[in-house]
Amino acid sequence: MDRSIPGDNSNYISQPWIDFPIRESNGIEMKKNSLPEHLTRTRFIKTAGAVIGGAAGAYVLYELAPWLNGSAPAAKVRMPLQVRAKGDPLMRELIRFATLAASGHNAQPWIFSVANHVIQIQPDRSRRLPAVDPHDRELWISLGCALENLCIAARKVGLDPEITYPKASDVITVSLIPRKPEEGKLFSSIPFRQNTRFEYDGSRVGAADMRHLLSTPLEEGISLRAFESHSDIEKVLEFVSVGNLSQFEDKPFLDELTRWIRFDKREALASMDGLYSGCMGSLQVPRWIGQKVLGNMAPNQQVDMDATKLRSSSGALAIASTSEDKASWVRTGQVYERLALKMTSMNIKSAFLNQPNEVPEVRGHFRSAFGFGKTLPQLLLRFGYADAMPSSYRRSVDDVILWP
Ligand SMILES: Cc1cc2nc3c(=O)[nH]c(=O)nc-3n(C[C@H](O)[C@H](O)[C@H](O)COP(=O)(O)O)c2cc1C
Repeated sequence: MDRSIPGDNSNYISQPWIDFPIRESNGIEMKKNSLPEHLTRTRFIKTAGAVIGGAAGAYVLYELAPWLNGSAPAAKVRMPLQVRAKGDPLMRELIRFATLAASGHNAQPWIFSVANHVIQIQPDRSRRLPAVDPHDRELWISLGCALENLCIAARKVGLDPEITYPKASDVITVSLIPRKPEEGKLFSSIPFRQNTRFEYDGSRVGAADMRHLLSTPLEEGISLRAFESHSDIEKVLEFVSVGNLSQFEDKPFLDELTRWIRFDKREALASMDGLYSGCMGSLQVPRWIGQKVLGNMAPNQQVDMDATKLRSSSGALAIASTSEDKASWVRTGQVYERLALKMTSMNIKSAFLNQPNEVPEVRGHFRSAFGFGKTLPQLLLRFGYADAMPSSYRRSVDDVILWP
């Protein structure tokens, strides 16, 4: 059949992607998917390529959103504390510094209430992490981290914190009693403390610095262990690896983790919480790609990444407690925050590797392999030297305070 376009072009329409009717010589009208003379196949391919390329470019631009300033909000919440503030504005400042603390998945599971010179910290249960933390152990540790920042900031402005730990109630109460301001070295590290998830440079923290670090004051019932020898680090790694394998084969764990990952700047700025890829050393991608990659990731990939990171570190530190209750978890968080601030002041970086404490079966073996005795390992972190990462986000302090 002659498929050439007849001389009579009157039936043509100019859009090449629309089938247009042509008249066969026998007079039967039929549809023919062909091109008008003025638009050759090459031009069509070029036009389509430009349209697809343009759309892809626009999408990438939309994802990376260079017009959204990603570092300004992280810097704003870390502004120097307004030490001259009085009354409620001062309480607000102390709470802003409290929120710069670490929290599991950066869920920021805290609510602060203020009455005169008393600040109460309570869990925000809408921010629980039931898959990784079914008993709220890490939630209370996170509140302990915030409590420690609050106390350090309070001392700096001349307020002595008197703490009532949670027992039957679900509240940490901090009464602030005026006294002479304290020149706290840890205070100035609060805006700079971070979980630095990069690979470290492999160099060792010297013996004198290790002694200084391990002299960090502890809390009642809380102990600190360092693992620095090659064989100890390899032994710790075995437990991190088994924990990783267990977690990355667990769908509820992965689903929860995925919900808290902020795969691009747009998502991170919208929520101001969660694990933002931009400050974890990961690529920014659209959520649908990130979810696919995470869903298809072999657990061994995570094992290998963490092995490289731990082996690049100077060592690991474990914080343990004599009992397993809310008050011990809060005290654990206080000791972590204090230790992390001290490391920050010494330019030592750290990052958590809590898998051995988060998987119950692994925790028991970890505990006996390292002879923790009657104490229970609560937190595990690696430490060493590396460049800083971009700072993580925090929700506005006004979103976490309940005024009377
Ligand atoms: C109790 C607790 C457990 C944590 N567990 C891990 C962990 O296993 N792996 C990790 O990379 N970060 C862990 N983190 C770190 C948080 O993700 C981090 O504090 C949060 O993203 C905020 O970032 P920043 O600490 O850099 O300010 C944990 C934090 C807390 C308080």
